[in-house]
Amino acid sequence: MSDHNSPEEIVSYYGDADESSRLGTGWFQLEQARTQELILRHLPPAPATVIDAGGGAGAYACWLAARGYQVHLLDPVAKHVEQARAASSRQPQSPLASAEVGDARHLPHGDATADAVLLLGPLYHLVEREDRLACLREAYRVLRPGGFAWGAGISRFASLFDSLAHGFFEDPVFAPILARDLEEGQHRNSTGNPLYFTDAFFHRPGELSRDFLAAGFHVEAVVAIEGPGWLALDFDRLWTDPQQRERLLAAVRKVEREPSVLGASAHVMAIGRK
Ligand SMILES: C[S@@+](CC[C@H](N)C(=O)[O-])C[C@H]1O[C@@H](n2cnc3c(N)ncnc32)[C@H](O)[C@@H]1O
Repeated sequence: MSDHNSPEEIVSYYGDADESSRLGTGWFQLEQARTQELILRHLPPAPATVIDAGGGAGAYACWLAARGYQVHLLDPVAKHVEQARAASSRQPQSPLASAEVGDARHLPHGDATADAVLLLGPLYHLVEREDRLACLREAYRVLRPGGFAWGAGISRFASLFDSLAHGFFEDPVFAPILARDLEEGQHRNSTGNPLYFTDAFFHRPGELSRDFLAAGFHVEAVVAIEGPGWLALDFDRLWTDPQQRERLLAAVRKVEREPSVLGASAHVMAIGRK
């Protein structure tokens, strides 16, 4: 089992997985709503320059462009960049400023040219700490003083909750994957089953803030994105009922900084300021 994930592995995983529709399904809708809320909490008013490094098919980049921001998306998966360009062309009044194949470890932007950087993917896809730090140092470099970076990590404990709640805890093929996740946070999937994700690093919440600090950031907050909400029984029914959706969002907000709950969230977000 390799300890280095290659761009080929990432491209191959996303060749099967449809990132362009993911956020519109199941509990990923909670991930999206909460991510948007957490971005808007610190984002300066438009127009401002945003770099979405690991922007996938453009869900957040296009949403921000539609709100008047100058958004530059980059992603190593050409399919995602094409999907982002297609989404951008569907909003001709507010297209993306750019969408290019690239890597968050080497941003093609000048020093102190951005107001905000999103790292919603690279920090869990990169299994080596040095690579994750390279992304954060690049984000720091391209930000203007006072600019913000949002970094998403997958919780070290997400596999445990996911397998228990979604029915694959008993799969003997998954058992060694889960054991290594819990022991080291190093997620390795050589099963070929896309349900078990791809090679990745799963953070303890404290590790995410430690890396932001190491890259020079002041850490504004470390918060749960979904909190325990992603484990809700009959999630779709809750989400489609406006009253229950608001109750769910309010409950997640209430516990978003509770240290004893952070690791139960699928994703944890660190928000850093330069
Ligand atoms: C699960 S998707 C998330 C996409 C989007 N940011 C979101 O939050 O919905 C993770 C993304 O990170 C990208 N990624 C992986 N390694 C990366 C790297 N080294 N630099 C930039 N992006 C990377 C993947 O190609 C993928 O598009």
